[in-house]
Amino acid sequence: MPVVVSFVSQKGGVGKSTLARALAAVAGHGGVRLLLADLDPQQRTVSKWQKLRAQNALAPAIEVKAFRTIDDAFAAGAKRDLVILDTPGSVTRATLDIARKSHLVVQPTGPSLDDLEPAVLLFHELADAGIPRERLLLVLCRTATKGEEAEARRYIAQTGYAVLRSSIPERAVYRAAQNRGLGLTETNERALNQRADMVIAELLARVNDAIAAMKRKPRKMGKEDVA
Ligand SMILES: Nc1ncnc2c1ncn2[C@@H]1O[C@H](COP(=O)(O)OP(=O)(O)OP(=O)(O)O)[C@@H](O)[C@H]1O
Ligand SMILES: [Mg+2]
Repeated sequence: MPVVVSFVSQKGGVGKSTLARALAAVAGHGGVRLLLADLDPQQRTVSKWQKLRAQNALAPAIEVKAFRTIDDAFAAGAKRDLVILDTPGSVTRATLDIARKSHLVVQPTGPSLDDLEPAVLLFHELADAGIPRERLLLVLCRTATKGEEAEARRYIAQTGYAVLRSSIPERAVYRAAQNRGLGLTETNERALNQRADMVIAELLARVNDAIAAMKRKPRKMGKEDVA
């Protein structure tokens, strides 16, 4: 069974597709057999990015496929090590299903209250619906100053949700890289690549934690236990 990491949000433009592509590129460089599933039928952002990547003959090639439903994505990714789900910037009935089937539910958020409040509300909804909190993770993206990041972190700390220690700053270089089919760790600026590398490394560590937590959960009692 593959590890499943989903990128969700209520708001558009927060960085879901950007982080999904970055994770795919890093995992691809590491030789992980992965599928990046495009579940955003209106934008198909990651599919278009993959075409650019292929046109520019960039290595590693990333397998990206567009799907109408999560079940279709799972069927296609069943034999991979990692399935990355890029979802639209809205909450639908599918969002809960996606969260239930994910080892880690990642929500990028900008540092403004306008972004943070809906992000936290979505995680409350998912937690209320039974998604374990240890599977919910915020990532601060598109930050401009240390001050605003610190303020955002104070806000998040009050909510109790986990947030990565590292963050992705707002930079035109990241956009330019993505316009050419590259990921955030593959730009022509070493310092920015390192910054993105830290985020993806932390993300991967969280994936491992979430899987370990799931394995520790006591098994429900079955017939074999009372026989
Ligand atoms: N750190 C960044 N610096 C500069 N530009 C960024 C950064 N992160 C994302 N962008 C740009 O912001 C736009 C939105 O990013 P992205 O497509 O990843 O968001 P999204 O959450 O997937 O949006 P949607 O909900 O519409 O699918 C894109 O044009 C992307 O290139
Ligand atoms: Mg997107």
